[in-house]
Amino acid sequence: MKTEAIILAAGQGSRMKSSKPKVLHEVAGKAMVQHVLDSSKHIVDHCHLVVGHGAEQVKESLKNEAVTYALQEQQLGTGHAVAQAMPEVSEESLVLVLYGDVPLIKSETLSQLILAAQDGQLGLLTATISNPHGYGRIVRNDKGEVVAIVEEKDADEPQKSITEVNTGILAVSAAHLNNWLPRLSSENAQKEYYLTDIIEMAAADGVAINTVSPTCFEETLGVNNRQQQAHLERWYQRQVAEQLMVQGVTLMDPERIDVRGTLTVGQDVVIDINTVFEGDVSLESGVYVGPNSIVKSSTIGEGTKINANSIVDQSIIGPKCDIGPFARIRPGTETAAQAKIGNFVETKKSIIGAGSKVNHLSYVGDSVVEDSVNIGAGTITCNYDGVNKYKTKIGTGSFVGSNSTLVAPVALASETFVAAGSVITKDTENGKLVVGRSRQKTIEGWKRPTKD
Ligand code: UD1
Ligand code: CA
Repeated sequence: MKTEAIILAAGQGSRMKSSKPKVLHEVAGKAMVQHVLDSSKHIVDHCHLVVGHGAEQVKESLKNEAVTYALQEQQLGTGHAVAQAMPEVSEESLVLVLYGDVPLIKSETLSQLILAAQDGQLGLLTATISNPHGYGRIVRNDKGEVVAIVEEKDADEPQKSITEVNTGILAVSAAHLNNWLPRLSSENAQKEYYLTDIIEMAAADGVAINTVSPTCFEETLGVNNRQQQAHLERWYQRQVAEQLMVQGVTLMDPERIDVRGTLTVGQDVVIDINTVFEGDVSLESGVYVGPNSIVKSSTIGEGTKINANSIVDQSIIGPKCDIGPFARIRPGTETAAQAKIGNFVETKKSIIGAGSKVNHLSYVGDSVVEDSVNIGAGTITCNYDGVNKYKTKIGTGSFVGSNSTLVAPVALASETFVAAGSVITKDTENGKLVVGRSRQKTIEGWKRPTKD
């Protein structure tokens, strides 16, 4: 049977106190609605999004996703929201209802729910919690069958004491929804068309209501304010930290690592405190990442050390390299084995060859640095004339004296020796010493100034 998801994402989220629609707020560096799409799109045939507040912003943020949209102009309730998407849903499909502000729902849980809704049955995701305040309560009969959901605001005292709650997520056939949704009424405490009222109709129609529990409750938590967002963020990060430790990573403090993307690790990786990983990052075996470092969409080779306070962005760092402390590796940097990039060095779109060293206070951009090169402190590749960018090449075994500027386009042949403080504007020859600075003079007869 074909399965289609309807993701409710029309709410404003006024308690977020934000100009951004709620579902675009992020958990682990990704919009909440994107999390929901990512965990559902591969288990259903199609996704529909019900949008309302900030509809254009939501669509813009999902422009690369193959989803269809239904506009809910007024937020008249969850039942009304689902009804807006139904004209686009095939009568033969099974429908999975999801919430754009319940970001951490797991695919496995959704697959179970879909199974529970086969053959015309209804699958309902419920959870039993100690403080059910605010949730719809699951009402069961003497036989233990679900017969209704009562919203907090409509519940009487005995119903309020029920600890099994509705997570809001359910699966049922489109045929049933098309029968039930038009019969919803808004005669309730919130004057809304409650999706939850279909449960009573299902029970009356003799439709089996099968409940499924999430593997952990946090999966079903919604975000309505910044506190709940922060709570889910911390919970998510703790899960990632646990996973990394299970894989054999040493985390100096599992509470002080943030992964906003996918972190792939080899054996015996050590990650120090306050580190942030974004995008797809791969740390090969034996990598050390020092405190306060940020690694973004990069691969770090076996045995390499990223020392404290370094940033590595969209780069490929080879094996046994030594980066930082305080290095800034900008996009397009590739280092071969055993390269060293030291403190206050910035690199960009550059290749740093095997065993080459840029140890202190330098800028290397749009450059090819071949193997075994030593770049002295304060060296700058002048790659930009204010309009265009040019390339610098530094041949194998070259030595660039401190405080030199290499004005691109320029190529240093192998084994070039640049005297300290040089301004190099012309290509060099193999194995030659080049000096590009004025000579030191001694002024004879000079007298130190005295006070008038
Ligand atoms: C809903 C359930 C409640 C459940 C709780 C779980 C109903 C009537 N109640 O209550 O049983 O315990 O979720 O969190 O379904 N939305 C729209 N359009 C609307 C109304 C809502 O898109 O017209 C979206 C919201 O943006 C939100 C989601 O649906 O993402 C849930 O709506 P919300 O008003 O938060 O439902 P609750 O009152 O929390
Ligand atoms: Ca509500």
